[in-house]
Amino acid sequence: MNNIYTLTKNNKSLSIEFLSNNTLRIFDKKVKTDLIELCYKVNKTVPEINNDEFIYQGYHVVLKDNFDLVIYKNNVLVVSISNEYKEDQMNVHYALSDVSSVYGLGDKMAAMNRKGYYFRQWNTDDPVHQDELYPSLYKSINFLLNYTNKNYFGLFFPSTYPYEFDISHKALNHVYINSKCTSIDYFLFLGDKPKDIISNYSSLVGHPYFIRMKMLGNQQSRWSYNNEKEVRDVMEGYLKAKIPLDYIHFDIDYMDGFRDFTVDTNKFPDMKGLNKYLNSHHVEGVVINDSGVKVDENYVFYKFCKDKNLFSTYQGKEYVGTVWPGDAVFPKYYSKDAKKYFSEICYSFMKENGFTGLWNDMNEPTSFKGELPLDVDFSIKGRELTHLEEHNVYGEHMIRCFNSIWEKDNIRPYIFTRSAFATTPKYAFVWNGDNFSLWHHLRLCIPQILTMSISGAMFNGADVGGFGSDSTKELVIRWAEANVLMPFFRNHSNLNSKAQEPYAYDKELEDIYRHYIKIRYELIPYLYTLTYHMNKDGEPIVRPLFYNYPEDKNVLEINDQYMVGENMMVAPVVDQGVKERIVYFPKGIWFDYETGEKYTGGRSYIISMPLEKTGIFVKNHCIIPVFSNLMYIDRKEIDTIGFKVFGNSGSCELYDDDGISLDYKKKVFNVYKVSYKNSEFTLKSIKNGYESPYRNIKLYTNNKCYDLIFNSDIKEMIKND
Ligand code: GLC
Repeated sequence: MNNIYTLTKNNKSLSIEFLSNNTLRIFDKKVKTDLIELCYKVNKTVPEINNDEFIYQGYHVVLKDNFDLVIYKNNVLVVSISNEYKEDQMNVHYALSDVSSVYGLGDKMAAMNRKGYYFRQWNTDDPVHQDELYPSLYKSINFLLNYTNKNYFGLFFPSTYPYEFDISHKALNHVYINSKCTSIDYFLFLGDKPKDIISNYSSLVGHPYFIRMKMLGNQQSRWSYNNEKEVRDVMEGYLKAKIPLDYIHFDIDYMDGFRDFTVDTNKFPDMKGLNKYLNSHHVEGVVINDSGVKVDENYVFYKFCKDKNLFSTYQGKEYVGTVWPGDAVFPKYYSKDAKKYFSEICYSFMKENGFTGLWNDMNEPTSFKGELPLDVDFSIKGRELTHLEEHNVYGEHMIRCFNSIWEKDNIRPYIFTRSAFATTPKYAFVWNGDNFSLWHHLRLCIPQILTMSISGAMFNGADVGGFGSDSTKELVIRWAEANVLMPFFRNHSNLNSKAQEPYAYDKELEDIYRHYIKIRYELIPYLYTLTYHMNKDGEPIVRPLFYNYPEDKNVLEINDQYMVGENMMVAPVVDQGVKERIVYFPKGIWFDYETGEKYTGGRSYIISMPLEKTGIFVKNHCIIPVFSNLMYIDRKEIDTIGFKVFGNSGSCELYDDDGISLDYKKKVFNVYKVSYKNSEFTLKSIKNGYESPYRNIKLYTNNKCYDLIFNSDIKEMIKND
């Protein structure tokens, strides 16, 4: 069966390949995709094609003689894409209607609607970045979600070469996509809703991996906790402040002279003992690993890689850049040998020192000497590879060396990276790199996280409180409130910045921080059920409002509110001194999660939000599964599941498993359907493979709490008096 249709004119050609999930691949010559892994599914049914026209999933598609691809839906033009191939570059461009938005492109710091901006996909670490006009950041995700003429469509460019996206910047209402990559090759996703397009795109690049439940917990970091005492002080600070905590991060100063996989034993004489101490409080250690390896003949890891020819070269010699240890060289992480050896070294290092999480950094790759020349040689046996082609996927190749180290212990990976490509989320999650403690960075982190989410990197987060420079008390509070339900929640700050831990300011900050972290812990079963769908279906945990309400034109440009799953919405204050804000509610009835205050959707309200308040809202007729009083997350210790009913009836789904092992792949998990109607509570398991530690249920309805005995099939009348 041939699933490819090719039009040839004047010695040129353009092909359309029919893939599953409403996806078409358009190409004149397919780019090499061996550096990444695509989950490529060919469609068995190819439409009938007459005169270069066909009907595909309700779309009328016409391939013109000049290779313009014109798409209509219900006789309305969706888009006309011009495909131009010149000697040294490809150019794809299309017009937008006046009413249009373009979303996507990963981590770029700008409004979600990318119209008016120019971006360049070239993974970049720049200390003064993260301004709205900065064209490149740490990640290159060439995915665009377009809304135009009442229709949505998606585009994804799979090449790892640099790309330029000019989105209504040089010419209003036009999108120009250029690349020196010498072929036209992109995927086109058709579908009525952003949700379908995003999940089809995510299926192609791979759904994000399934995280541990504990990773939804609160995390504390700093560059750096410089010695054992400072780490113990953090633990004690948290215990004293009674703020839940699950992970502490060890930044570069734990290393001996910034050498990867070493510990400075003067500062940390007993790293394993220190991690054991943290573990005794149910907190685990996450350790940083940088891509540049110190040049030092006496350093075992350097010698080892050198002997195996694992470093990239320039003009026949190792290419030497400058990173934290001074002179540093860059491994060829793409090589099979690197994966084999590095994973073993990393596994032993983590085990010997008691770390459970790995943080990968400086892997754009960054060198303080300036960018590596484009012809630095990353070739491996059988594959020529220049820095130009490897650059955007270097971070991914680095983490692919390590992401399987937990398999031996049947544990899900805890691995994250700063630099990433579109296909990275199936191996590692990401954080958004170095922001500053500035109000506009707080404002921008919301569209940034949401855009990452719809670009497939669905488990992500920003440095809470801001990384660079000192944060004010008010900013730390508002940042924690705004990020309260973001997937990855980590307070992190820079060397020399003032202490930013939640106990480092005053009692008011401590109280507010604790309050919202406790709400986050209460909502872990809700968030965890969403992580299940992220992994299984490619559905983002946090979403822009248009994801859930594509038919509501009022939500297309909302950058300061976000949806968490289908049923919750967060609307925080993100400006200094502000004590109230306008909140837009999509259709339906909504309740304030904390106060129960009711709002009727389809309009905006001005809502009072003093410093101690952020807006968390829940839809009518839904049930939110909750935990109570957790100070850390350890699934096996949790025997009570609560359900909060919003409105007089409702329903929800609840996913449950051991929260840590890979057994979910063998169907060792449960899915329950829960509902409450006419005073009758029902819980029924629809998938039942896990022996749950749940023993009790707390049902919250009618302003009361009812205690029930847990069982996987319950029907119980609740007496309302
Ligand atoms: C980079 C990271 C930052 C880290 C620092 C020191 O700037 O982005 O998070 O703290 O390096 O390792």
